[in-house]
Amino acid sequence: MNILLIGSGGREHALALTLTKSASCTKLYSYPGNPGIWKISEKVRQELKTHTDFVNFCKINNIDLIVIGPEQPLADGLADSLRQNDITVFGPSKLAARLESSKGFAKEFMKKYHIPTADFKIFSKEEYDEVIEYLKKSRFPVVIKADGLAAGKGVVIAESFLEAENIIKEIFSGLFGEAGNNIVIEEFMEGEEASVLAITDGKDFILLPSSQDHKRILDGDKGKNTGGMGAYAPAPVINNEVLKQIQSEIISPTIVAMNAEGTPFRGCLYAGLMIKNNRAKVVEFNVRFGDPETQAVLPLINGDFAALLYSAAIGKLDKSKIKIINDKYCCCVVLASKGYPDDFEKGFEISGIDLAEQNGAFVFHAGTSLKDGKIVNSGGRVLGVTAIGEDLKQAIEKAYSSVEKISFQNKFFRKDIGRKGLKYINE
Ligand code: AMP
Ligand code: GLY
Repeated sequence: MNILLIGSGGREHALALTLTKSASCTKLYSYPGNPGIWKISEKVRQELKTHTDFVNFCKINNIDLIVIGPEQPLADGLADSLRQNDITVFGPSKLAARLESSKGFAKEFMKKYHIPTADFKIFSKEEYDEVIEYLKKSRFPVVIKADGLAAGKGVVIAESFLEAENIIKEIFSGLFGEAGNNIVIEEFMEGEEASVLAITDGKDFILLPSSQDHKRILDGDKGKNTGGMGAYAPAPVINNEVLKQIQSEIISPTIVAMNAEGTPFRGCLYAGLMIKNNRAKVVEFNVRFGDPETQAVLPLINGDFAALLYSAAIGKLDKSKIKIINDKYCCCVVLASKGYPDDFEKGFEISGIDLAEQNGAFVFHAGTSLKDGKIVNSGGRVLGVTAIGEDLKQAIEKAYSSVEKISFQNKFFRKDIGRKGLKYINE
């Protein structure tokens, strides 16, 4: 198969590596990719701006499968345009992508189909007085979410009425642009977060290993929210009992109901979950692979991953294409640029990636670029240093010993990725 992969982050580098290792992948093209991805794929050099550009590229280059990494092109309907032109695409339609692109849609959907999630109420920009009345009767903290896509920034946990009032004023004044024209106010859920990815053809599904992201910038889950500072898989908080409940009360009914609504979901369904007392509730759905969860999940998969995605894309999921490694763990530590998620300096040369790889790690590129033939940092999250171990402790140790081999000015990382998982194992 000729495959085109869209996206440029650490997630896409992990996807690229897993696709190129697949027996059915003859050639992988990447757009726009990053220096890590370009090493293992053919970089698409022309600019693909419109959906028609993508369609034409796929036709001219005999693309058998296109894999869309990020949410924005899915929310924009790229998968629909490709399907209309008979191109096989892994990724949901625009209507199915509303599970991520509209939090209001996702919440109403979950309510209608009794999928466990936090209680909520939706308000439009025109309903400012109603929101305030509602907040006066609310118990704090409350969670306030912009309805639309806001690059992971559209969620605020307000500890008091005053804080909630201020943030709502800001959102309705355009803090998150049009994404904030409607807001969801949610009950605050306590517990531990983890996530599950399901590959689905719209009817059947296969779950990949569970995982746990670390969204805050500082150790101990302190400080600002980020795109994710590291992940490990599987996440022991999702034990067999919780996993069964997630399958039967969350993933399966979501896929069945999306089909029943006439908007079948074909692609990777990401369920972000809050787990308490061995029960999971949905925090959010994403309609694509998680980042950085994918970097920790895909190394635990053997077999022909490209063929699995293809089978899902044509509506005939063939779960036998992959084999999940059940007796190992994987840990991905994100190396960031100091200052992230706020301003940071770019352009520092990165060295030691080869040494980290000799140490047994995979180093996924996220925010890197090439300058005079050298790899430099260009994004907040720069690299994902990832290692497999016989147990979680070993995976963590190997990832961190590999982190030490890599240097660049202003390198910053969390020291406690995976620690939350160890408490279950040591019990
Ligand atoms: P979301 O973009 O919906 O995943 O929200 C971002 C983050 O906010 C989540 O990963 C949680 O840490 C937190 N969060 C969102 N909704 C809730 C909730 N109802 N209760 C507690 N924390 C939440
Ligand atoms: N790691 C969370 C996300 O991919 O949205």
